Amino acid sequence: MFIKQFKYHNDNLAYLVYGETAAVAIDGGAVKEICNFLSKKGLTLQYIFNTHNHGDHTSGNRGLLDATRASFVSVKDLVSPHNQWMIEQTPIIIYETPGHTRDSICFHINEWLITGDTVFNGTVGNCFTGDETTFINSLKKIMTLDDQTMIYAGHDYVRPAMKFAANHEIDVSQVQLFLEAYHPDHVYSTLKQEKSHNPFLRLNHPEIQQMLIDHGLPVKTETERFQSLKKIEIWD
Ligand SMILES: [Fe+2]
Repeated sequence: MFIKQFKYHNDNLAYLVYGETAAVAIDGGAVKEICNFLSKKGLTLQYIFNTHNHGDHTSGNRGLLDATRASFVSVKDLVSPHNQWMIEQTPIIIYETPGHTRDSICFHINEWLITGDTVFNGTVGNCFTGDETTFINSLKKIMTLDDQTMIYAGHDYVRPAMKFAANHEIDVSQVQLFLEAYHPDHVYSTLKQEKSHNPFLRLNHPEIQQMLIDHGLPVKTETERFQSLKKIEIWD
């Protein structure tokens, strides 16, 4: 089983997971590149999936449907307990991770976790549901996975996220290491790295709490710390 990442719309990331003959597209916005890749490798696109229902993630669905014989499966059908998903002999495990949106999901295939806008490499998505507590619980669910799980996010926000982490974390050596290894053509991190440099996975660490107190922001609960971190996040 293999995974191939495609960049589109500047920072969106699309994925093809494929075996000997079959492939699955997740947030397949890079339609032309994906179709070229499928024909070059002699692959049949089986399914078209999305991590959630935002336009920048679903924009490739129509084009892929027109160009292939794949089936589109909605998030609702993906999470139905009556359904199980496989690519060739490999199971596709789906976690419901509400927070960014109510319908946000992550796909776990082998050691890969395709996270959409739930976890990015170095930060997390905006909480459009307004329910940070639920978002934090989704992050905690992800944090129980193996440390070597590879995080494949829905956007490449590595540079602004690392700038934010470097400005606000006590130990910047992990951030430095991550930036040195960063390559825009293949963007990923391990869960272990996220636990050490992603401030939103470190809400209970004393240095994060102290940094927020220094900014005069509320820190009493995890939810307050999440909200406070989002207030000072920079995107330049
Ligand atoms: Fe989104």
